[in-house]
Amino acid sequence: MTLVIFGGAGDLAHRKLLPALYNLYVDGLLPEHSAVVGVGRRDFSDDQYREFARDGVQHFSRRTLDEAHWTGFAKLLYFVNIDISADGSFATLGSRLDLIEHERDRSQDRIYYLAIPPTLFVPTVEQLARARFVGPMNGGPFARVIVEKPIGRDLASAKAINVGLAKVFDERQIFRIDHYLGKETVQNILVLRFANSFLEPIVNLRHIDHVQITVAEAEGVGTRAGYYEQAGALRDMVQNHLLQLLAVIAMEPPHSLEADVVRDEKLEVIQSLRPVQGKDVDRLVVRGQYAAGTMDGKPVTGYRQESGIKPSSCTETFVALQVFVDNWRWAGVPFFLRTGKRLPRRVSEIAVHLKPVPPILFNAAGNQLEPDVLMIRIQPDEGFALRIESKRCRPSVNIKPVNMQFNYKDIFGGSTPEAYERLLLDVMAGDATLFMRRDQVEASWGWITPILERWDERGTIEPAVYESGSWGPAEANQLIESAGRRWDEP
Ligand code: BG6
Repeated sequence: MTLVIFGGAGDLAHRKLLPALYNLYVDGLLPEHSAVVGVGRRDFSDDQYREFARDGVQHFSRRTLDEAHWTGFAKLLYFVNIDISADGSFATLGSRLDLIEHERDRSQDRIYYLAIPPTLFVPTVEQLARARFVGPMNGGPFARVIVEKPIGRDLASAKAINVGLAKVFDERQIFRIDHYLGKETVQNILVLRFANSFLEPIVNLRHIDHVQITVAEAEGVGTRAGYYEQAGALRDMVQNHLLQLLAVIAMEPPHSLEADVVRDEKLEVIQSLRPVQGKDVDRLVVRGQYAAGTMDGKPVTGYRQESGIKPSSCTETFVALQVFVDNWRWAGVPFFLRTGKRLPRRVSEIAVHLKPVPPILFNAAGNQLEPDVLMIRIQPDEGFALRIESKRCRPSVNIKPVNMQFNYKDIFGGSTPEAYERLLLDVMAGDATLFMRRDQVEASWGWITPILERWDERGTIEPAVYESGSWGPAEANQLIESAGRRWDEP
């Protein structure tokens, strides 16, 4: 197949896609005769593009670059310099693709990757249609399209993008990426829940006190000021990654692993989220923004001093929320979600807190025990831990929480494949299980949009300030503490 990356000379291609493709190549997982064609406005020759890719692999690949493998991989890479919005540019692209495919004696199975701003999604697929790049679904070479997030910036714009995509591609040809779903540890949540008999009977309102989902990043906004200023943490992280993590931890067991069966169950969770709108937004959603502080002993600037950011910017770099899944399994169990940039370290985890044992025996008055917690570590130190109470080796009864741990590295060794490796492979195989279906995207935006509307309605809201290197603003602590719980320190 030929993978055509629109935005092929961009940041995503450099940091994620080209290194992922290199690793697939090293593992022998790329179909024979594959080609990767970067498309963009940079004036790259094929060789310059190969240099660009090499740099990406050197800096961002999970494996160090191996010359023998590199030489083989580099031969798959091409670059076509066009402005995708210009008339006639797709004719140029088409003839170049025909030539590459002919030269390499390859069929015309193609995957189009839209690693470009969302405003260009629809115009680009329209161009693909006009240039007759997309044939009928059955018979002949396949055409698939991968769409990067963000799919829109609210419900209306997401719907408009989906309508535009559907005019050209069948839903079965569209692969909307949420790269969190490609992470091994996220896929393992289904295995943990449904391949073991001890867990499933207790994952419900009778035994679970609350769930915390934390996606913390140490990085600041970096070089993405232009995008991030318009997005903010709610759109950038909560609408997609955090809601997907919530869906995976809360979903019912699907009756099979077929893509639509799994996706139906996740959709059910999103549709069961209690709406947060109007004044409830002020109570249940905290917006924060990082100020200057210290990271790893070094001073760092605040968000408003970052390059490309307005000194008066009110964009949120941190969000904490309390949400409920109003269904039979979860009614009344609070889920606390938080995500932010410039927090003390990069860590994503889901903590499932069990209810305390009754206040008798070991938990009698004056002797309060810590309730058990199942901690699922998405990254780094991938694995999970069960915090349970145990007796210390002493003559008296003295109880201490201990961790039963599982670490990927200790058991399976090696470096875990990157999410993009798995996802690219799935698109080649035509497996959409780990991709967002149209109705899921719209359901998530449908739940998020009233929060955005409330913020708009209130005008400029100064975000709560937190020092870089801290776990977020004091308001986030108040949110959870007013519900009688406290954040875990990951
Ligand atoms: C992206 C967001 O989707 O996810 C970024 O746009 C964020 O802002 C990134 O940094 C985090 O991904 P990961 O895999 O590093 O946790």
